[in-house]
Amino acid sequence: MAPSSVFAVGFVLAFLSLCFSTASADIVETSFIVKNLTVNRLCQNQVITAVNGSLPGPTLRVKEGDNVIVHVFNQSPYNLTIHWHGVFQKQSQWADGPEFITQCPIRPGGNYTYRFNLTGQVGTLWWHSHVQWLRATVHGALVIRPRDGQKYPFVKPYREDTIVLGEWWNANVIDIENAALATGAAPQISDAYTINGWPGDLFNSCRSISNNTYRLDVVPGKTYLLRIINAALNTQFFFKIANHNLTVVGADAAYTNPYQTDVVVIGPGQTTDVLLTANQAPGLYYMAAHPYASAVGGTFNGNTTTAIIAYQNATSQTTTPILPILPAFNDTPTAHKFSSNLTALVTSPFWSSVPQTVDEDMLVTVGLGLSPCGSNQNCSGIFGQRFSASMNNHSFALPSTISVLEAFFRNVSGVYTDDFPNQPPLVFDYTNNSNSFNQDGLLMAPKSTSVKKVKFNSTVQVVFQNTALIGVENHPMHLHGFNFYVLAQGFGNYNATEASKNFNFVNPQERNTIGVPVGGWAVIRFRANNPGVWFVHCHLDVHLPWGLAMAFLVENGGTPESTLPPPPADFPKCT
Ligand code: C2O
Repeated sequence: MAPSSVFAVGFVLAFLSLCFSTASADIVETSFIVKNLTVNRLCQNQVITAVNGSLPGPTLRVKEGDNVIVHVFNQSPYNLTIHWHGVFQKQSQWADGPEFITQCPIRPGGNYTYRFNLTGQVGTLWWHSHVQWLRATVHGALVIRPRDGQKYPFVKPYREDTIVLGEWWNANVIDIENAALATGAAPQISDAYTINGWPGDLFNSCRSISNNTYRLDVVPGKTYLLRIINAALNTQFFFKIANHNLTVVGADAAYTNPYQTDVVVIGPGQTTDVLLTANQAPGLYYMAAHPYASAVGGTFNGNTTTAIIAYQNATSQTTTPILPILPAFNDTPTAHKFSSNLTALVTSPFWSSVPQTVDEDMLVTVGLGLSPCGSNQNCSGIFGQRFSASMNNHSFALPSTISVLEAFFRNVSGVYTDDFPNQPPLVFDYTNNSNSFNQDGLLMAPKSTSVKKVKFNSTVQVVFQNTALIGVENHPMHLHGFNFYVLAQGFGNYNATEASKNFNFVNPQERNTIGVPVGGWAVIRFRANNPGVWFVHCHLDVHLPWGLAMAFLVENGGTPESTLPPPPADFPKCT
């Protein structure tokens, strides 16, 4: 045998053994071309920024364990990043995406390749831009199926589909955000909600080709897995399908015990996987969503977005579908029942038990406030000031010259402080809104870039406590880099002695985003087993720029696997 063929055989054997050892993990590689395009919605043309020319953007379909490579080309006029919402980013921390937390944005004309692995995560996640309000149109689904040889822990669905709930403005969302930030006002509310990019039939002032409705054809008797994602900027939804019950089997890419319900409540950032069986009389049925608007006296768009479930053998394919009756906008009992009844499927191969001890015990207030208008300026927030928001009286401000993660990695001082407190600076009657405007010192939380530093592998418990300053509201709080366990939720001021009696240590739902009950609290716990800088924020994009955020800085753990690697070669430059 000639030396060259010996080499070839050896190479082939090495290649095969590589294939066998990672039998079911693939590399999924794709490109995102991000640019402006004109679309027609609500009977008018609108320029939006979108990925690969579609709204929602492309669905990434992968298997658990796969390696994902996404080349992002920013051909839009805006700064851009992509966040892989819910992905742990172990050993790929530089791919997480929030601007000035993880990375500086990809400038117009620039590009960056996101590389990460999806081991230990199955279900529905999604991706979205993490720069200003761009995610209104820059988002899409990330569907993670079990790896080869593994199954769903529920009946195999006949088909799967993604249902992306969105929010639409007849305007440029970046302009809307900037206009509001300039005056300190609350931003203009949206003009419609969408299902898979379309407002639906109830916006029938303009029935035309441009006002399409999403339609799902079903075969009678078959069971479908619907992966529902709330990609709306500022709206929590009630979601129903007329005459059909749903069985929740997963949330935020973690399996749940099967939970039967006729309504799903879903906040921005959350995903809910449900089974739908086409077991009703053949016909047309609407799926519909409208806001769960928890803020008392808040302004919102009360429209309903719809899509159609069409039975294959329905005699008429054009009659008006049956519309479900959605809960009232302020039906907090229904919202709370749904979100507090989900439990984890502990027989899942990805389940690990709840840490029983707590190293960092935190009570963190979350809510709105004001910030000073500034001299010689005119502001349109309450009292002529600017709307603001804070956690533990710290109103988060993003750095602007380097990301917090890079500042940590390179030991750059002056970018952030690590003084985020474990407790609110002042104990007060958090949820009593009758005296809220008297809490002057608390209304005006100072702006800072304050992180909470924790040791690698420490266990962290956070009680998110909603405050009633300015107004009470359900805040969907999202943690990057981890799933957390939801141990308990309730209303009023948190009382540790009472609440801890009801902690669920057995099968608490595992999530990355929790709607903190309006005028109430939620207790989460996680193990900080991922070094890096992990953003924590309200997923209502109206509150994020106001400062409703903080970050965890998880220190290195001393082994190669527990050490933050250096940034990749193409990491976007900040200047
Ligand atoms: Cu889905 Cu920081 O966000």
